[in-house]
Amino acid sequence: MNGYEGASRRDHHGTSHVAIIGFMGAGKSTVAELLAQRSGVPLVDIDARIAEAAQMSIEDFFAHNGEQEFRWMEHEMLTDALRCPDASIIACGGGIVLDPRNRALLEAQATVIYLQVTAEELAQRIDDYASRPLLQPAIEADALSDFMQEREPLYERVADITVDTCGLTPHEVCDRIVGMLEEGDHGVLHP
Ligand code: S3P
Repeated sequence: MNGYEGASRRDHHGTSHVAIIGFMGAGKSTVAELLAQRSGVPLVDIDARIAEAAQMSIEDFFAHNGEQEFRWMEHEMLTDALRCPDASIIACGGGIVLDPRNRALLEAQATVIYLQVTAEELAQRIDDYASRPLLQPAIEADALSDFMQEREPLYERVADITVDTCGLTPHEVCDRIVGMLEEGDHGVLHP
């Protein structure tokens, strides 16, 4: 992937951001990084930006400042990332779609890729509970599934492209996204 020439439905806004959304553990950061490497388009990781600005981990941020403050920062960072005139690949936190302002921003200003995963696969994949303050190790697959069902319609609403990631490695997911971007009219990545 060396940039794309195709027209995106976002092109009339003069932007060419690609945002990766999905539930915690869906592989957003890893896949976004692979896409950035392959395209040469810079990566913006919203959680990493928050951690850097606050000089603490996301876990500590939640513990010290609470979720509301986190959501405020998350909105600020997304607004900031989308304001940049140059293309970027934006790895979003799993809860970014909860704020209707973020959904409107994403819909208007980015090609949005939703990495879909089942609760069962997620339960197997998530081994890093410490850095995910909203998930506890004891969470049952059923509870996880309820949690996901709340968010799924929000992910689907803002997504331009949905990728079922079950059974796929991050490299395979990346290949699929590249293929879909090339096939469709979403060709927007330019280094
Ligand atoms: C959250 C997901 C996390 C992080 C924060 C809240 C969520 O990001 O933004 O812990 O509400 O789903 P990842 O999806 O990258 O784990």
